[in-house]
Amino acid sequence: MKEKLEALKQKALSDLETVKDAAALEQLRVAYLGKKSELASILKGMASLSPEERPVIGQLGNSVRSAIEQAFEKAKANVSKLETEKKINSEKLDVTLPSKLISMGSLHPLTKIQSQMEDIFLGMGFTIAEGPEVETDYYNFTALNTPEFHPARDVQDTFYITDKVLLRSQTSTVQVHVMEQNEPPIRIISPGRVYRSDAVDATHSPMFHQCEGLVVDKGITMADLKGTLETFAKAMFGGKTELRFRPHHFPFTEPSCEVDVSCFVCGGCGCSVCKGEGWIEILGAGMVHPNVLRMSGIDPEVYSGFAFGMGIERIVMTKYGISDMRLLYENDVRFLRQF
Ligand code: DAH
Repeated sequence: MKEKLEALKQKALSDLETVKDAAALEQLRVAYLGKKSELASILKGMASLSPEERPVIGQLGNSVRSAIEQAFEKAKANVSKLETEKKINSEKLDVTLPSKLISMGSLHPLTKIQSQMEDIFLGMGFTIAEGPEVETDYYNFTALNTPEFHPARDVQDTFYITDKVLLRSQTSTVQVHVMEQNEPPIRIISPGRVYRSDAVDATHSPMFHQCEGLVVDKGITMADLKGTLETFAKAMFGGKTELRFRPHHFPFTEPSCEVDVSCFVCGGCGCSVCKGEGWIEILGAGMVHPNVLRMSGIDPEVYSGFAFGMGIERIVMTKYGISDMRLLYENDVRFLRQF
């Protein structure tokens, strides 16, 4: 029995020493330490031993069991280390592999130009004002010195929700809201969507974007308007840009003008971008009409101001050489990715 126990111990220890995975380890545990193990059956056989032999074999049996148990614990730690190593190796990352391409969106050209405009005017001390796109005809026309039946209402025909409520046809509406709510000095721009009942073609859309500007203070003159617009145009189109002011008529400004910039492509000699003109029209402007100031609660005897309004699409199209306005609204990523 003694030899049997010794042999069992040797075999168990050598098996446990070489075991490599958890399943095999479990088999060894059952075989050497389980209820039906050889060790258990040897110890059961102790009943037939003589009273002298019994404690000797009993002691030996216990020491064999604890040796196997110790070896088992060691093997268990070893197996778990091996398995962790195996797992780490199988999940190895090759950090030198090229990464998957992450596709990034880009800003819409209208958004890009609008934020450039905002940056330029913020740099000159303007703030950004917002106004509603659904308006009353008072803000869209009447308060801008364009009473009912004034012919200027026709050129800005828009979408009416009721007789008096409409989608704004111009951002000039924001001038009125700002003047009603603020005391001069006022220095704002207001970019946003406007609407007109125009059929869609390469240069028209029933929805487009404008950026309005308004400055009201004591002693504001046309010279301030010129200086402001020149600073803007040079920042937007390049330092060599020149401005041309042409007399015009708008109901809400007096005097009024249209403003052209020298063509930033040909510098003024004439090319396809400026259609041979050398100049590109970019905005309407003027000195705020005294009636407009008065209707919004500002005394025209004390204050004066200038205003301007430009179409953002027009600037985007000339700057990027886009010939069809519809491209701006179709959300075709092949087009949008170019900006
Ligand atoms: N609101 C005008 C339009 O939509 C543009 C404009 C012209 C705005 C002159 C102004 C201005 O503020 O002074 O055609």
